[in-house]
Amino acid sequence: MATDLRRADQEKEAAARASLRFIKSGQVVGLGTGSTAASFIRLLAEQVKNGLLIRGIPTSVRSRELAESLGIPLTTLDESQEIDVTVDGADEVDPELRLIKGGGGALLREKVVASATKYLVIVADAAKQVPRLGKFPLPVEVIRFAQALVAKKIAALGADVRLRLQANGTPYVTDESNHIFDCRFGEIADADNLARQLSDMPGIVEHGLFIGMASTVLLAKGDEIVELHRQH
Ligand code: A5P
Repeated sequence: MATDLRRADQEKEAAARASLRFIKSGQVVGLGTGSTAASFIRLLAEQVKNGLLIRGIPTSVRSRELAESLGIPLTTLDESQEIDVTVDGADEVDPELRLIKGGGGALLREKVVASATKYLVIVADAAKQVPRLGKFPLPVEVIRFAQALVAKKIAALGADVRLRLQANGTPYVTDESNHIFDCRFGEIADADNLARQLSDMPGIVEHGLFIGMASTVLLAKGDEIVELHRQH
């Protein structure tokens, strides 16, 4: 178990390192959230110290604090609505490069940043690759006013719906002050259709299915980096 965790950490760092070649001076760079993205942010900071000129747009308060602490110059979507490259992690990746994201609770800002990004690079350890999405519970961000209604509607689609809680038992609150449902669908037969159904549900701010967004996925498998490209 400890060895598995160590291997996953090494893979995360290897995938993050492999993504550095997508970053060029002068770019606006989206900074993802999660442990793999944090590894990327740390490696990017080293490049910045060595003269790389970029401005970052973080996808969470956590990533902003990390980037600031490491001296990465930052900008905001208010100042710049075009992001050249974003590097982010994922909870699951399928063969079509559809993703489940949001395990780290930042799916809303992550999807907004991804939607403004010309080239989205996903960095992940081998365990994230799946033949079909759905083993990982799908995070869905909801406004609190609508949460009971939304929970009932998602359950009617066949999911076991659980409000995400913090260690102290109170609900997890996102950077945008919403709650998150973790929805266990099991294998999702039609992810595109489910994404549409969730997007159409009033009260849902965003869901963790990222479809047609990732340009490249860098999967670290042991010492090897497998590079997957989305077919258009
Ligand atoms: C954050 O909200 C998520 O979308 C992360 O990208 C995801 O949870 C991956 O996290 P790790 O890199 O820690 O596995």
